[in-house]
Order: sequence, then C-alpha cells, then structure tokens
Amino acid sequence: MCGIVGYTGLDQAKDILVDGLKRLEYRGYDSAGVALEATDGAGDPRIDVVRRVGKVAGLESELVGVDSAATCGIGHTRWATHGRPSVANAHPHVSCDGRIALVHNGIIENFAELREALVRRGHTFMSDTDTEVFAHLIEEAYDGRPADAATGEPARPGCHDLMGAVREACTHVVGAYGLAVVCADEPGVIAVARKDSPIIIGRGERGSYVASDVIAVIDATRDVVVLEDGQFARLTREGITYTDAEGNAIEPAVTHIDWDIDMAEKGGYPDFMLKEICEQPRVVRDTLVGRMTGGELDIDELGLTMEELNLIDRVYVIACGTSYHAGLIAKNLIEMWARIPCEVEAASEFRYRNPIITPSTLVVAVSQSGETADTLAAIRDARIKGAKVFGITNVVGSPVARESDGVIYTKANKEIAVASTKSFIGQVVSLTLLALLLAQVKGKLTTGQVRLLFSELGNTAEQIQWILDTQEEAIHEAALACKDAHSALFVGRGMGAAIANEGALKLKEISYLHAEAYAAGEMKHGPIALIDRDFPVIAIATKSPVYDKTVSNLKECEARGAKIIVVATEGDEDIHKIADHVIYIPPVRDAFSAITATVPLQLLAREVALMRGCDVDQPRNLAKSVTVE
Ligand code: F6R
Repeated sequence: MCGIVGYTGLDQAKDILVDGLKRLEYRGYDSAGVALEATDGAGDPRIDVVRRVGKVAGLESELVGVDSAATCGIGHTRWATHGRPSVANAHPHVSCDGRIALVHNGIIENFAELREALVRRGHTFMSDTDTEVFAHLIEEAYDGRPADAATGEPARPGCHDLMGAVREACTHVVGAYGLAVVCADEPGVIAVARKDSPIIIGRGERGSYVASDVIAVIDATRDVVVLEDGQFARLTREGITYTDAEGNAIEPAVTHIDWDIDMAEKGGYPDFMLKEICEQPRVVRDTLVGRMTGGELDIDELGLTMEELNLIDRVYVIACGTSYHAGLIAKNLIEMWARIPCEVEAASEFRYRNPIITPSTLVVAVSQSGETADTLAAIRDARIKGAKVFGITNVVGSPVARESDGVIYTKANKEIAVASTKSFIGQVVSLTLLALLLAQVKGKLTTGQVRLLFSELGNTAEQIQWILDTQEEAIHEAALACKDAHSALFVGRGMGAAIANEGALKLKEISYLHAEAYAAGEMKHGPIALIDRDFPVIAIATKSPVYDKTVSNLKECEARGAKIIVVATEGDEDIHKIADHVIYIPPVRDAFSAITATVPLQLLAREVALMRGCDVDQPRNLAKSVTVE
C-alpha cells in the first residue's frame, strides 16, 4: 500500500520521481506528492512540496508549471489508511519549520500517544495522518527536544545529522515503516529506514535511488539491495552507505533482477489487465521450466527433505483474495492426489484462530506480492506453533519468501493491473506441482502417473492460447448480457465451484457490479429466490464427473427465467439448449480445468468493466499490495 520513491544524483529529480510514481501507482492512487530541494531568493536551501488528490497524472500536470532544477527529491503515491484522501493528508509531510520532509509506507500503531506528546511539546500538526509524527520526531532529534513538563523529561540537544535523527526517531515508533527523508540542511542526502514495509535501494550510473518496488528503478539498475528490517541507508549523489540500528556499517546482499522494463510496459495492449491475461500461456510454461528433470519432479527450493514431506499429515493453505481462491483449487488437488486433509483459510481469519498445528502440519502461504500483512502474520503465527511453512509468491526476496522454510516463485513476472490474473495462473500451476509432489512422496501416485499429469499440465499453455485466439466474440456477447445487470451469480460444482469464486471476485472488483459465487447444488437452498431476467447466472459447466449435476442445477435456474452464460467444453453442443451464451474452453482434465476455465471469466470481467466505463487497471478503493491489516 502506498509507493515511495527517491532520487539523488546528477539529473533533474522531478521527472525521475514522477516516472517512478507512475510505475508504483498500482500500490495506491488516492493522492500523490513530491518534495524537491530548492533555494530561496538569498540562495539558502529549502524544501518545496507539491501534492495533489487523485492519481499521479494530476500531480504530473501540476508539476509541469514547476520549474525545478533539483537533483534530489522524494515522492509518494498514497492508499489512505489514517485520514481521508486530501491534500493535507497527502505525502510528503513536513516538520514544523518545513526543513524536513518525508514519505512513508506503513502504519504507526502508537501514533496517537506520540502525537499527543509532540503537541504538548509545541508541535503543530497539519494532517490527520499517522505519518506526520515521524516528521516531528525527526525534527526533535535533529534540532533538539524541548523539556516535557508532563513526563518530566529534560530538554535534549539535537544531533544535526539526518541519518542519526531518523535512527533516533525510529526508536520511538511502534509499527511498520518504509521511510525516505530529506532535509534542507543536508542537500543531496536521502535517509532511509525500514521495518515491515518493502524498501529497495539501487545505485545507477547517474545517481542513487530508493523505492518501494524495483519497478521504479529498473531503468537505472538491475542490481538492488532489498533493505531488511532494522537497516538504514544514506543515499547521496556519490553513493550509498548502509547501517544497522546502532549505526554500525553493514554490507547488505545485492539482488540481481532478471526481468526487464518491457515487461512493465503495456506493449501495445490497451491496458495492463489484457496484457497480463494474454501473458498466461507464457506463465504456465515458465512456471514449469526445470520442474521435471530426469523424469523426476524437481522442486528443490522446498526447504523440506523427502522424509519430512512424507510425515506431513495436514495441509493449510493460507492466503487472501485471489490467492485464497488458488488455495481452493489446491485443496481439491491435494486431497484428490495426495490424500492429505487440506484446509484453505483466509489469512486474516487464520491468524486470530487457534488452528490445530503440529510439527507434521504444512502451511502453504500464497501471495502474489509476498507482502500481504495478514498472510505474513499468519506465517509467523504458524511457525511459532511449529508448522513448516512453504511460500508461493511472485516477488523474489519478498517477506513471504524470506520468512518461509521454502518457496516456489510463480514466474508471472511483474503484475501491474491491480486485479490479479496471470499471478493466479502461476499460483495454481505451482500448487498443482506441490500436490503432485506430495502425492508422489506419499506413494499415492507413481512416477509414471506424475509424468503423465505433468505433461498434460504443460498442455494448458496452448489451451489458454486457444481461448484467447477464438473466444473473443463469445465473451463480448456474454458481456453485453451482463453489463446492465444489478447483480450476477457464479456457480459450479467441484473445481467449478472454486473457479466461480475467482470469476465473481474479478467481476465485482473491476466492474463494481455485485457478484456472488455459489456451489451450484446449493442454489435451491436460497439463492434461487434472487433469479429474474436481469440476474445473469454464469456457470462453469465443463466436462467433469459432476457435469450432469451442474446442468440439472442450471435447468432449475432456466425454469425460473435466469439469463444463463456457460463456460463449457468445446464440442458440447447440448449446452446451448439451456444457455443463452456459451464460451468454450478446450477439453481438459478436470484437475487442470481451473487453469483454463478462469481465463474466459477474467476476460468477461474486463469486457463488462470496460462497457461500464471502469478503469480496469486501477479500480476504485483498491491497491495491489495490502500491507495493512
Ligand atoms: C484480486 C486481488 C486481491 C489479492 C489479495 C492478496 O484481484 O488481486 O484479492 O489477491 O489482496 O494479495 P497477495 O496475493 O499479494 O497476497
């Protein structure tokens, strides 16, 4: 949530910051702002702050009129937590004297008490945000702290060193922060701190960079430092120094990024969502590369020995949103093939329950971003309780990857559209591999069976391509039938029920049309009462052991006048007897149907959203990384 960027170097900072913010906009787009170094009439340094409510494009227009030669600055794009979206609440926030400015991503849990004490000591607050306490704390550490009559604390001298002041301020704060700070008295310096909020640092030929995500700096460098909790960085034009909480010099590891900027551009597509949907055949292929060596399934990043895996007697998949839906697919596969009981739980629920965990429990944490706060908290909780934790994430070096015993990377590459598409497919493919491995280790599937299934899994890449190449018209017609509805119902059985959940989420999050997913067999226990001609029922009725049952349920809906759209298997002509619209997928083993049948639902949601005039890449109220509870 929230994106931060900073640059100090040889070039003008303004454009670099705006460019970085545009790339980070998926993290939040309620408001945006920059702080740039400047000089006053007498040639003395000061900090200029420009902020706007709304997307980065608005800030960019405002900055056109700002003549800035600054070569050092920081920027922020916000997803509001404390305080509504407004100019006053937009970052950067400044100290009372305006000489210190900062951008922050995270939540300060003890901000109310810090704010009260700061007000008592004479500070004036300009916003409702938790972040602003940091500006005043740093100001006190820098300039000196007045005596506090209420607590009896005596006055303290300032340290007049930005990095030292930031370090000192952090000792008072409870919560999460990724922080970048500039000070008019130290031109060209950016002080950076991190705790539980992503920060990456890069050094390019023309300067030093800080950002929430590598995507903002990849033009300048592919070698970045992923700052760890409790580490600090001081960026200057000439270079970067790293220190720990005590101020001791450290040398953090450098991570090389192996994807390039083309992957983060639209590449001729009208929006990122379509581009990312169309990348899905590649995601399947890349996620499978190197996974079958010498006829054996190869997942060596597992962090568990075969003996440890063999002892697993319970699996929990914990995740949020779309990643949770990937977990629903995994449950079907793990129980079907490996015969291990598997529960899927929203991480936000799991962390506050007391789930039954033993040393033979495997917790699989699924997260595209690898930084979802609830998923991370659930991982920590599960590990304390003695579970082995295995992460499935799309982001190399992310907290989920670092805090799990082992990890599979989904190879979706950067996903920009806020609604997850290709990362879901990468997750389902990765979870399928895990299910196959568990089945093999448990002796429930032979090596030969695993090889056959692996090869069929690979075929889903071409099957997705077939859907992309042939079903556009059918999806368009189905979207026309949905666009004016007040609500929609997604139904299916077995795998179809799991897929229905993802179809409904995609539709509601990008088109703002209410949608619900229901197990088809449950319709007559309540939801069928909702049905009328304006209420489309979207069914996943591909050829599977429960096909006939699903069709019977659809007949019940048809008899009550529902408008029926069906995702069916190519060649199924009978389905036209009950369906108003049919979207086909190629014949596929039921176990793999989620990988293909989800694709038309993604495209349908996008079509409906576009017809309703919605921004499919940046839906309202959402942000891609949910780093708050
Ligand atoms: C929906 C969507 C969200 C995320 C959820 C979890 O399209 O993207 O529901 O799936 O916020 O995010 P990650 O996977 O990053 O943990």
